Amino acid sequence: MPKEVFGRGYRFMDRKELLTFEELERLTRQFVRAGIEKIRITGGEPLLRRDLERLIARLSAIEDLDLTLTTNGALLPQKAAALAAAGLRRVTVSLDSLDDETFRRMNDVDFPVSRVLEGIESARAAGLPVKVNAVIKKGLNDHEIVPLARHFRNSGHTLRFIEYMDVGATNGWRLDDVVSAAEILAAIDAEFPLEPVAASYRGEVARRHRYRDGAGEIGLIASVTQPFCGDCTRARISAEGRLYTCLFAVEGHDLRSLVRSNASDDALFEAISSVWRRRRDRYSEIRSERTNDLRRVEMSYIGG
Ligand SMILES: C[S@@+](CC[C@H](N)C(=O)[O-])C[C@H]1O[C@@H](n2cnc3c(N)ncnc32)[C@H](O)[C@@H]1O
Repeated sequence: MPKEVFGRGYRFMDRKELLTFEELERLTRQFVRAGIEKIRITGGEPLLRRDLERLIARLSAIEDLDLTLTTNGALLPQKAAALAAAGLRRVTVSLDSLDDETFRRMNDVDFPVSRVLEGIESARAAGLPVKVNAVIKKGLNDHEIVPLARHFRNSGHTLRFIEYMDVGATNGWRLDDVVSAAEILAAIDAEFPLEPVAASYRGEVARRHRYRDGAGEIGLIASVTQPFCGDCTRARISAEGRLYTCLFAVEGHDLRSLVRSNASDDALFEAISSVWRRRRDRYSEIRSERTNDLRRVEMSYIGG
């Protein structure tokens, strides 16, 4: 959780407010019935949720579901094997820098880069394919673009660069802080020549490029300079069961009350479908310095 959020006398939610694993499974089944093919567990830091592998086991029992999670990687050395055994299919690890000082400045965390690298190796050892996400912020870690690319070339892990976004109300975002995907691509291409790879499916958020020498591929997520709202198929649920139809939404839709009432599965399905049918979100297409003052949900609450 960013210090700007935590430092304001943050009150953690009461456990009773969180959806239980049983409730999460029930909801997931209705989302799958509505057409969802992939579930990503994120946060906050998902590996801090006690017994997470029990949730993974429940969700992995649902047929035809691609199940993954995004983590800061710090607890993967302890957890990777149990998560894989429970049926997790793959994992995304966030790593914005290979240099400890820059890493800490970006993330407000109290562990070193080596711990994340160890986490990535534990995931590999457990048989989990790994993607690595790096958010690039101008003047902070843009000097790390090429070193990160060099590090993960030939590793078998796909490195993905994400344009720095104006998530939540606390990160003080300015358009000037954004390093565009085009700039990131040019920096890497100058050192290690790249060529584009066709998207594997409509709505794939990362534009893929492969190293011409066969050293693997990278992804670029250009959510600021080339928004993809029109192709976005993502819904997000907060830990307390609010459904958000956009990462930049202001209000979520309360599903918990419905889950905790006597509502049938059909009623849940209907509620989910009707929220989805009515969505109109296209925040990234209308983003400007002026939209920066709009109220938004925090990323530590809703996940990336
Ligand atoms: C909010 S984190 C949550 C999961 C987990 N705690 C982690 O660190 O990966 C999910 C993803 O959002 C990315 N992210 C965080 N802040 C961002 C920002 N301002 N712009 C773009 N991506 C961001 C992170 O790098 C991470 O890959």
